[in-house]
Amino acid sequence: MIRIKNLSYSYGKTLVLDKIDITFTRPGIYGILGPNGAGKSTLLKIIGGILNIPAGQVFIEEKDIHSIKHKELATIIAYVPQQFIPNYAFTVRQLLEMGRHPYHGQFDSITKEENELIDYSIKVTELSKLEHNYITELSGGELQRVMIARALVQDTPIIILDEPISHLDIHYQKEIIKLLRNIAIDRNKLIITVLHDMNVGLNYCDYIHLIHDHKVTSGKPKDVLTLEKVKAIYNVDLIKIKHGDSEFIHW
Ligand SMILES: Nc1ncnc2c1ncn2[C@@H]1O[C@H](COP(=O)(O)OP(=O)(O)OP(=O)(O)O)[C@@H](O)[C@H]1O
Ligand SMILES: [Mg+2]
Repeated sequence: MIRIKNLSYSYGKTLVLDKIDITFTRPGIYGILGPNGAGKSTLLKIIGGILNIPAGQVFIEEKDIHSIKHKELATIIAYVPQQFIPNYAFTVRQLLEMGRHPYHGQFDSITKEENELIDYSIKVTELSKLEHNYITELSGGELQRVMIARALVQDTPIIILDEPISHLDIHYQKEIIKLLRNIAIDRNKLIITVLHDMNVGLNYCDYIHLIHDHKVTSGKPKDVLTLEKVKAIYNVDLIKIKHGDSEFIHW
């Protein structure tokens, strides 16, 4: 579904990614992990078409990202950024309606089916009580759920999320991760999510791409997020805890 070939990226003289190869081949949840400043958000912005790269390095559904127009890309990939600062006092529902823009001409109105999709997205992200509130007056966690709901409204085969649970309390962390899992499985979507929580990576992701030292280590969660590797990359002492079939890493 997405193939990245020999991708390098620098901001001026600051090298971030050095000739990395990554593939996202099938539906499921792919976790992107790595220390602060490793290049996780940079990678997502490249896949989301926000940062420009030379041709021949990123392919979406077999097409070079260069050849895909902005509006068309928005029907393939929904991008939930790490930070979103609302500039205009739209209501939650109005912002969600904007998630349908890639499918519309300028003066088209929202269809019944689209309204149903918006209702569904509000329901599964538990935003019913907030749908008529202004997005400029939401808490950090509420806004984060609105941005996830907007990605669901966009109804793309690929959803990329940059730390989607970082502002959520444990109830919503669990619900949102379960929701993403269900969507990946039931609707055959490719979900790519940046995470800091190793345990979410270990227990909810199908595959991990761990970015460190400008390179990437890829594989199944248990093979990539080994105690030794995580200790070395993050320079922190850790223990592993087993509970049933699950493994947890704790400092
Ligand atoms: N617009 C920019 N201009 C210059 N340097 C940048 C810019 N954006 C990011 N960087 C630098 O590129 C590196 C990678 O940044 P990036 O945001 O991709 O990291 P990250 O892995 O997402 O980190 P975090 O876990 O803190 O979100 C960092 O060293 C950062 O300082
Ligand atoms: Mg980041």
